[in-house]
Amino acid sequence: MELLKEKIKQEGKVLSDTVLKVDSFLNHQIDPELMLEIGKEFAARFKEEGVTKILTLESSGIAPAVMTGLYLNVPVVFARKRKSLTLVNDLLTAEVYSFTKQETNEISVSQKFISENDRLLIIDDFLANGQAALGLADIVDQAKASIAGMGIVIEKGFQDGGKQLREKGYKVESLAIVQSLANSKVTFTQVEEM
Ligand code: G4P
Ligand code: NA
Ligand code: NA
Repeated sequence: MELLKEKIKQEGKVLSDTVLKVDSFLNHQIDPELMLEIGKEFAARFKEEGVTKILTLESSGIAPAVMTGLYLNVPVVFARKRKSLTLVNDLLTAEVYSFTKQETNEISVSQKFISENDRLLIIDDFLANGQAALGLADIVDQAKASIAGMGIVIEKGFQDGGKQLREKGYKVESLAIVQSLANSKVTFTQVEEM
């Protein structure tokens, strides 16, 4: 997605060979118009997949997920990282290990929001090692629902997640695939645009 890649080039900060900071439009401040275009693009890429609901993870997955839900005309559910006071019973949970943070977090979704007949599109902001996406897929499996695919805003192509998820057979669509962050420079993997 050219618009996204331009935004990354202009505003992204390379923090190290493996970490890209995009807090001016995705991870802290949010650019609503860009999110709307991102939602439109995901909707176009998954329109034939019979999506009934979108599943994401708080917090940075929510903005792109909501815009995608708007275009596909389906509800959006986000998994929580912390248990809320009112969210206590009938939870579907999964363990998500973060290599970046070297900690395991439990993510949860109330089972009333995912039914067996649902076909979920999983959306997230970043794909690194794939642990968050796998945790979300685990929750969908527990609900005996099906997975329409995974939409990722920024995939780090030099990390393992994309390969793992595609090998498992998921349809993974990433709007920008970062090939390298070496020498403080962002380079993208060229993929066929729709
Ligand atoms: P994984 O799910 O693919 O295995 O990723 P990992 O554990 O490495 O990621 C942990 C957190 O760091 C996630 O956000 C993920 O989106 C984010 N992340 C991973 N690589 C990058 C990167 O290069 N740049 C930025 N900006 N973020 C990255 P989170 O902790 O869930 O936070 P949030 O959703 O509240 O923003
Ligand atoms: Na994030
Ligand atoms: Na995230």
